[in-house]
Amino acid sequence: MGKEPTELALRSPDHPITGSPDSLITGSPDSPITASPACSKLVRVTFMPANRTVEFYLGRLPYAEHGKEGSLLDVALNFGVDLDHACGGACACTTCHVVVKKGEELLSAMEDDEADKLDSAADLTLHSRLACQTKIIRAGEVVVEIPAWNRNLARE
Ligand code: FES
Repeated sequence: MGKEPTELALRSPDHPITGSPDSLITGSPDSPITASPACSKLVRVTFMPANRTVEFYLGRLPYAEHGKEGSLLDVALNFGVDLDHACGGACACTTCHVVVKKGEELLSAMEDDEADKLDSAADLTLHSRLACQTKIIRAGEVVVEIPAWNRNLARE
């Protein structure tokens, strides 16, 4: 058993374990980040269809100042994943609409204001959530899809 990393761990194709651009990145040759079950607080989030997977330890992600702390939007912004959020995460639009493909049991329950706003979202599904309102509250693997209409939009 390797020793458990003590710092926040971020890993993605753009944020490799080594050569980190800032203090957020940890992991080291002595403390590799893996999806081992021993890492009981490890969260892995995959954003589809880009198939971009990021990993971090639950509760160790710095707040990215948009949406609820620890939300799917917060995760996306921490890792530079392109997820629209026109209202800044205030539950006042639906541009952060995602469809949860895996790991719904790891997410916070939907509150009334999120449900009310989601009613106006395009392509609503039974697994739709607003990324800015949906917090990851348990460790494990989450997969979300960014709907086609919400990808590659021209932004001002
Ligand atoms: S960013 Fe507007 S509701 Fe989530």
